Amino acid sequence: MNRIKVKDKTFEVSIPAEELAREVRRVATEISRDYAGREPLFLPVLNGSFIFAADLLREVDLPCEISFIKLASYQGTQSTGEIREVIGLAQDITGRDVIIVEDIIDSGLTMAHMIETLERHNPASIRVCSLLVKPAALKVEVPIHYRALDIPNDFIVGYGLDYDGFGRNTKDIYTLVK
Ligand code: IMP
Ligand code: MG
Repeated sequence: MNRIKVKDKTFEVSIPAEELAREVRRVATEISRDYAGREPLFLPVLNGSFIFAADLLREVDLPCEISFIKLASYQGTQSTGEIREVIGLAQDITGRDVIIVEDIIDSGLTMAHMIETLERHNPASIRVCSLLVKPAALKVEVPIHYRALDIPNDFIVGYGLDYDGFGRNTKDIYTLVK
C-alpha cells in the first residue's frame, strides 16, 4: 500500500521498511562497538520510539538495561507557558552510561530539555540516538551521536510516529501529501 489515510490527511510511503531495518541495524552495530565492555542503560522516549526501540535493542549485542521514559507537559504558572517534566525514571541513572532513544529530532527543543533534566541525575555519560533527524528544522544545538536517517522538513507518520495519535502502527514511514 503506497498511500494511506490517517484521519483527514493522505500520506505516501517515503521510507520503506527494508531501508529502516538496514539503517537501524547499522546504528545498533555502531552502538555495540562503541559500548563494548560497558553496560549502557537505554532510555527510549515514549510514545514515538516504541517500535524503533524494539527493533534497535534486538540488534544491540551488549549487556544492557532498558527503561522507558516520557515527557509530561503541564501548564506552568510562568509566562513561558508549557513546562515539560521527565516521568517514569524508575532507574537510578547515577554513574550510568545513558543512551536516550528518540523517534525524531525536529527543532531539538525536546531533546535539549531531556538532556538538561537527565544531567541533573549525574549519569557517567549521556548519548543521543534518534531514528530520524530533520536537520533543516533544528533550532538549538543538540548532540546527536547516532541517527538512522536524515529527512527533509516534512511531516511524517508511521513506525511509531503519529499524526494526532493515529498512524503509529505501520511498517513503513509515510510523508504527508500536500
Ligand atoms: P522537537 O522538540 O521539535 O525536536 O520535537 C520532537 C517531537 O515532535 C518528536 O518527539 C515527535 O513526537 C514530534 N514530531 C516532530 N516531527 C514530527 C513528524 O514529522 N511527525 C510526527 N511527529 C513529529
Ligand atoms: Mg516523541
